[in-house]
Amino acid sequence: MARIVLAPWKGVLIVIGVQWGDCGKGKVVDHLAQYAEMVVRYFGGANAGHTVVVNGVKYATRLIPSGFRHRGKIVATGRGVAHDPEVLAEEVKAALEAGSVPLFDENAPVVIPAYKQIDQINEQNSGGTALGTTRKGIGPTYREYVGNRRGLRMGDLLSEERVKKALHARSFYADIIDEVRRGGLEPLTHYDLAAWCRGHGDILGKYIGDVTCLVQELLRSNRPILCEGAQGEGLDIWRGTWPYCTSSLCGVPGAISTLDLPRKKIAGVVGICKAYVTRVGAGPFPTLMDNDWSKRVQKVGGEKGTVTGRPRDVGALDIEQLRRTTRDVDYLVMNKLDVLGGGDQVPICLDYFYKNTKQRVERDTTLTTELMERVEAKIELLPGWTESISDCRSRSALPKAARDFVEHVEKLLGKPIILGVGPDRDAIIWE
Ligand code: IMP
Repeated sequence: MARIVLAPWKGVLIVIGVQWGDCGKGKVVDHLAQYAEMVVRYFGGANAGHTVVVNGVKYATRLIPSGFRHRGKIVATGRGVAHDPEVLAEEVKAALEAGSVPLFDENAPVVIPAYKQIDQINEQNSGGTALGTTRKGIGPTYREYVGNRRGLRMGDLLSEERVKKALHARSFYADIIDEVRRGGLEPLTHYDLAAWCRGHGDILGKYIGDVTCLVQELLRSNRPILCEGAQGEGLDIWRGTWPYCTSSLCGVPGAISTLDLPRKKIAGVVGICKAYVTRVGAGPFPTLMDNDWSKRVQKVGGEKGTVTGRPRDVGALDIEQLRRTTRDVDYLVMNKLDVLGGGDQVPICLDYFYKNTKQRVERDTTLTTELMERVEAKIELLPGWTESISDCRSRSALPKAARDFVEHVEKLLGKPIILGVGPDRDAIIWE
């Protein structure tokens, strides 16, 4: 089989998740970062958890791009990212220790402590309709930034005058204080929040700048930039299972919009999935399974939230979902093929059918929450394998059943697939 060559590239390579998050983008971004001059995370916030394993040592980050372990690389967060300064303070240390160069966009929204309180209050008060958020204040941050066009931006942390102006604009912080108190919690006062901003401005100030401008400068000479998405298309605010989704754009449009990417500068899009599906938080999950196979995968795959520690539900690889979420994708990376094996059979879903009928869901029907509640996923069982495949570095070294599984998916989706066969940054089969 021919090797799939992604690097070197000119311009922008975008890495996105194509399931419900937690699909191993961190590992792939860390691997590809060696070929990039700059790695930019473009949306989401500290709700994400990215795990990178280098020489058996595990690093878990939430905001800075997963390429931060590479000396000399610029590791940036764009203006779409909900920046939590408390998390950034920690991650700046990790980046500097590794020798990478952090840069945070001055126009990006800041997650203030009260947003996390509001997230918690909203979840606690929503009874049976809770979204199961990570409670990291992501929804309230975008509500204020996008919906009300208020709040603090990273550049504000550098100026007391700007903080004061932002807190008072259209009674922003007075309203937030009222809301938190109505929910039974005590927010920081105006005075304490201003001090919080000053403190974080002192720590982060020299890493705050115009990320979009730097992206444009590099692109003018086609230098390689790697864009890292957060979560996955199933959680995208427009394309995902609204309202059980996050508040940002997880796919390619998020990168284009927040980094002003010229269309012609996009060298390619890499979609990341796992060989099965996981979901955490509320929302529909048609291929969910609760049996010995799913329990084993949950255990062997360490399927527990990096940010919240919640166990992730496990289900069969969902081709019906991937048909929609890989429309933008040039190459698919399928991670954790090593975890999928270990038994006689492996499950896969090829189609959804309306419940109690023989009517298949049409190929392009939008997968809304309402639709997903009306359908049943038809799960097929394909031959499994029990051999360990973590040391395999070529397709031909894989057991036949594993090879057949991947080739089947490749044909169904019409995309070349790169395989992840273990947690380490090099446990990848590029063919
Ligand atoms: P929020 O992003 O914290 O508002 O949470 C909204 C939904 O997205 C919840 O179901 C979360 O569990 C889910 N979510 C947010 N970030 C991630 C992630 O990085 N991986 C998986 N699920 C996530």
